[in-house]
Amino acid sequence: MTQTQTQTWQLLAQHRAQTADVSLLSRFDAPDRFQAFSAETDGLLLDYSKTALDTTALSLLERITAEAGLADRISQMFRGDKINTTEDRAVLHTALRAQTDEPIKVDGDDVLPAIRQTLQQMESFAEALRDGSIRSGTGAKFTDVINIGIGGSDLGPAMATLALAPYHDGPRCHFVSNLDGAHIADTLKGLDPQTTLVIIASKTFTTIETMTNARTALGWLRATLGDGASAHLAAVSTARDKTSAFGIAPERVFGFADWVGGRYSLWGPVGLPIMIAIGAENFRQFLSGAAAMDRHFRTAPFRENLPVMLAMTGVWHHNICGYDSRAILPYDQRLARFPAYLQQLDMESNGKSVALDGSPLPHDSGPIVWGEPGTNGQHAFYQLLHQGTRVVPAEFLIAAEAHEGDLTDHHQLLVSNCLAQSEALMLGRARKEARAIAAKRGFTGDALEQMAGHLSFTGNRPSVTLAYPKLTPFVLGQLIALYEHRVFVEGVVWGLNSFDQWGVELGKELAVSLLPLVDGSAQAEAYEAKDGSTRGLLSKLTHPHP
Ligand code: F6P
Repeated sequence: MTQTQTQTWQLLAQHRAQTADVSLLSRFDAPDRFQAFSAETDGLLLDYSKTALDTTALSLLERITAEAGLADRISQMFRGDKINTTEDRAVLHTALRAQTDEPIKVDGDDVLPAIRQTLQQMESFAEALRDGSIRSGTGAKFTDVINIGIGGSDLGPAMATLALAPYHDGPRCHFVSNLDGAHIADTLKGLDPQTTLVIIASKTFTTIETMTNARTALGWLRATLGDGASAHLAAVSTARDKTSAFGIAPERVFGFADWVGGRYSLWGPVGLPIMIAIGAENFRQFLSGAAAMDRHFRTAPFRENLPVMLAMTGVWHHNICGYDSRAILPYDQRLARFPAYLQQLDMESNGKSVALDGSPLPHDSGPIVWGEPGTNGQHAFYQLLHQGTRVVPAEFLIAAEAHEGDLTDHHQLLVSNCLAQSEALMLGRARKEARAIAAKRGFTGDALEQMAGHLSFTGNRPSVTLAYPKLTPFVLGQLIALYEHRVFVEGVVWGLNSFDQWGVELGKELAVSLLPLVDGSAQAEAYEAKDGSTRGLLSKLTHPHP
């Protein structure tokens, strides 16, 4: 019997069928609905009361997590078992932020001493760059840092560096990820090679986008600095042989182990640009926030456990209610890249069709994740959220306090808008009320009925809200770790491996084999072997082929 065919899953589906008509609003007839269906840790609140989850659904979901062996899986991850079975690797991003000296062992060796040493190396380097004691090849202070990386070697540090802009007092940080030459060309345009440091961040140090951009950046540095270019390079990687082949001095290489997945890597050397921007002390606060969430995740009971509850809203919405995407809507401009960051975290982790044993999954797995900051999204795609034929569970994020103490009017409007959206999604507007509005606007008869259709909202659209005191390094650490663990819990319930990413390989292989057809070096047979569409597009996009 597969996981979703258990009696518990069937009971949960039956319960949904029996309660689907209960309106979200009427659930608040129970006066303690908000207190009972929200949870808080260290000032971070998760409100899941505006969903159709009730006590029965939660008890069944709790049984589902127990049947999936969640408690054991959590212990296995934190203690360094090789739970990434297809790559035969432990999953220990949590060790990068561990605040304990209790050994964490992989293959019998404690990993903490090396982690602490690397953190120390990062701090010395970052602080020396910031105070100017590490200088450029021409003796100047570094004013700018370019991080070249993609996926996990870009999204995390780029997102977090933007999120923590109020704490920036170091060199300016720029991020180049796209293979499209436009990205590096536009970034280099405003910069001076004499005062710019380039960090090449790649776990494998083979990723074609990163290596192509790295070579271009090296050429740009050399054109001005000649052999002095090497003083302007640093690398973040697990592959020291490859970084030294690229000409990067060993003391400028910040290493990490293969048990840190790319999309989970910003807590270690991949976070170097964040540390350079905000300083070592703030970076430690960032790690502390994540460590606090780790402790909470390991110890809080089911109903009070934020990552588990956030995961339960996901399982409920995607497997039981049949909603196929989730919108991430930060009412916090500095979290503008958070949805993109979560797309990799969530979709690369749980976008799988097979179970741990390789057999096809009998149920849906990871949803489509998308989003934009509010309020901009309100003026773009919220129309579909409110009146489209699909229900999209929304996840709002909002701070109680902004960094701009002199712009409280902005923040008050921001909070009102955020709360108004979750309220509007829940309440909707009944036909009767829509008719009254149409009548007020002068419509009568058939025209009034037609207009009432356009003005009606079904409502009953679920959302959750994460509310935090202020977007500090600690809070950002909490938020990211919360989502990491949410993705993990969902993966455990779905019975899949959240830590590999075989689905990205095929496209990479085909891109390599297509290059000779694009640059014209391939034989005619290779061209003939391609499908008609690819051939047609090749002749449109390249010079004429044989
Ligand atoms: O192609 C996907 C991926 O492997 C991601 O998992 C990873 O974060 C990204 O590419 C970059 O990889 P690397 O850090 O090895 O350059």
